[in-house]
Amino acid sequence: MSPDSHPAPVQAPIERPRRLRTTPALRRLVAQTRLSAADLVLPVFVREDLTEPAPIGSMPGVVQHTRDSLRAAAHEAVEAGVGGLMLFGVPSPEHKDAEGTWGTRPDGILNLALEDLRADLGDATVLMADLCLDEFTDHGHCGVLDERGRVDNDATLQRYAEMALAQARAGAHVVGPSGMMDGQVAVVRAALDGEGFTDVSVLAYTAKYASAYYGPFREAVGSSLQGDRATYQQDPANATESLRELRLDLAEGADLVMVKPALPYLDVLRQVADLSDVPVAAYQVSGEYAQIEAAAERGWLDRDRTVLESLTAVRRAGAQVVLTYYAVHAAALLAR
Ligand code: PBG
Repeated sequence: MSPDSHPAPVQAPIERPRRLRTTPALRRLVAQTRLSAADLVLPVFVREDLTEPAPIGSMPGVVQHTRDSLRAAAHEAVEAGVGGLMLFGVPSPEHKDAEGTWGTRPDGILNLALEDLRADLGDATVLMADLCLDEFTDHGHCGVLDERGRVDNDATLQRYAEMALAQARAGAHVVGPSGMMDGQVAVVRAALDGEGFTDVSVLAYTAKYASAYYGPFREAVGSSLQGDRATYQQDPANATESLRELRLDLAEGADLVMVKPALPYLDVLRQVADLSDVPVAAYQVSGEYAQIEAAAERGWLDRDRTVLESLTAVRRAGAQVVLTYYAVHAAALLAR
């Protein structure tokens, strides 16, 4: 090729996808996935015997609430247009035992906080309660143990039935069995119906993986767990198993189903969303939050853009509802 020769003129593209990206208004018009505050659920922690909200070191910006500060935070979330609240209770250490007694007592911290919020807010928001024993057991497992120290599935179901009733009586609109015991949705549904709580919904933790991304949550709830939950939560290597869990949860009467964690499991979320005929939720868990916070703190990621992008990705993969510690923050960003 001689130095003064020119390349042949390029063939003009026939299709120009960039055309629809020309202006912000056009991009907004054709955006396929929308995020709104109403899709977001804020998980909150309420701790017994606390006089001031206590920061959670591994979740900057998230606190363990006192009953009063929780009431204020709940009002703020409702004002911001957030779709619902998911409550986790943190009992004082002397209120932990092998059976998680304080998870089912009406004067247990989670049930008291549910009562507070239901009295304050009525039906103005959706009050959800974590239905699991791990915060209330001294061994930190999601269920009760047999004589060999293994999590006893069927004995745990009995406790979940009691916990569902305690939460319904305290005012939960939705209970969220998160312990991954076989048959938990059926047992919870039957217990609720048996006492006339036919209107209380079950948000099934359908595909819940044994994930390292729950690390910061363990600090948030002062978990007593030694070891892991690999005998009841799913192996991260498995996807098809989630479809089995989905089939069972739907058959047992789940009103909503959830995949958790969210971003590392978008493939599972998509498969579940394609097959579910009930609304699908996903939980952007503590470790997902902590990753964004840690990187943003170092100036390595733009926090606000990453928050909105990650939540959009979860919605795009098929979640209608997203549980996220960023719910109120994202609502503010979306209102701008
Ligand atoms: C169990 C429960 C856990 C989370 C929600 N419900 C912890 C676990 O399964 O170990 C984790 C939530 C998060 O990491 O944000 N009660």
